[in-house]
This record gives sequence, structure tokens and C-alpha cells, in this order.
Amino acid sequence: MAKKKRVRHHVNPLADQTEHNFDGFDNDNPIIVDIGADRGEFTEQLLEKFGDKRNFIVCEIRKPLAQKLQKKFEDADNVVVFDGDIVRNFENIIRPSVERSIIIEEIYINFPDPWFKERHKKRRVVNEKFLKEIQKWMQIETMWIFQTDQKPLFDETVEMLQNINDVEIEFFDVSPHNATTKWENAKVTAGNKIYRLSFHFL
Ligand SMILES: C[S@@+](CC[C@H](N)C(=O)[O-])C[C@H]1O[C@@H](n2cnc3c(N)ncnc32)[C@H](O)[C@@H]1O
Repeated sequence: MAKKKRVRHHVNPLADQTEHNFDGFDNDNPIIVDIGADRGEFTEQLLEKFGDKRNFIVCEIRKPLAQKLQKKFEDADNVVVFDGDIVRNFENIIRPSVERSIIIEEIYINFPDPWFKERHKKRRVVNEKFLKEIQKWMQIETMWIFQTDQKPLFDETVEMLQNINDVEIEFFDVSPHNATTKWENAKVTAGNKIYRLSFHFL
């Protein structure tokens, strides 16, 4: 019998209406955000490194995965997990902390769903409309980190970022904090190059 291939279905974020609000953590520690956390291995490694010196916001649109993440981090008071589309919920989850002058230190978008078809590009997490909306209130201290093995996605993201005023981009070679996931390791093992950039608003 032929071996069944595991197919991973993308969730259309524009169809997910889940709404969240989050007032923030009960301390003033900087916050690290993991968007599209999948199994949460990236946050896990950062949690190991920083312990309770940082707070973590973990976002995952696929509900069964988000439930597993809740379970994984249930004993960590400094980690919250949100399901649903992060683009829809970003302001409600992040802005209250920004308004309390809590530093949003790093926001990771590691290996995002690429949505290659022209008509699907608006489903990308890092899209121009979203960035222009949040640029009005995001802190200049916040470093956004974008990593992918998909060159067309990377190139289009660079071009899009270059078209937004007051955004500074940097390119780098190694994953920050040397944290990697099974996803990244599988891509590297397959011989794929990983493209990495960070940006922040000025
Ligand atoms: C290809 S996986 C990468 C997982 C992980 N970041 C890593 O590097 O191992 C992309 C993840 O982003 C999630 N995702 C896609 N769009 C999202 C959105 N709008 N909001 C939250 N999560 C999203 C997907 O469900 C998936 O788990």
C-alpha cells in the first residue's frame, strides 16, 4: 500500500474571525512575540535562555496547535498563547502594553506561510496594509525578525519594506539567539538557503 503523505493545510487568516484582547503582563519586563509559533520550539528556547526576565506572546492560527501550545506553556506565568489571525488581533494584544511603555523587544515571523498566488498575497502576515496601520503606534525599539527559505517571498517582502517610509532593514546570516526549529532544520537539511532580515520603524 502506498505511504500516506501528510498534507499540511494552510488556514486562510482572512476567514478566521477570532477576537482577543490582552491588557498585558503584571510586570514591566520586555516582551518577545512569536508569530506563527507552530510547535513553539522557538519560544521554548528563548524561554530557556531568558527565564522570567522576558514575557512571551505566542500566536498560532491553527486551533489544535494553539491548544497544544497552551498545554506546553501552562506552567509558565510569563507566556500567553493566542489562537486566531494575528493580523486581526495584533493591536488589541500588543498596544495596551505599548501604552504602558513596556518594551516590545522582538517580534519573530519565522518561516511564515508564503501565499504565493497573486490573489492570496493579502493573506501574508507581513503585508503593507498591516505594517502601515501599526507603524503609527509601534515603538522604534521593536525589532521585527523575518526568516524564510522562500526566496520570492523574501525578495517581495524586502521590496515592500523598502516602499514603506521610515523603516530600517538589516540582513543577517544566523538565527538570533541561535534558536532554530524542526522546520528550519528540515529546510537546511534539504539544502535550502535561509534568508533573514530584521526591520524596525524609525
Ligand atoms: C510554516 S509554519 C512555521 C512555524 C514556526 N514559526 C517555525 O519556524 O518552525 C507557519 C506557521 O504560522 C501559522 N500562521 C500562519 N498565518 C498565521 C496568522 N495570520 N496568525 C497566526 N499564525 C499564523 C501557521 O499555522 C503555521 O503554524
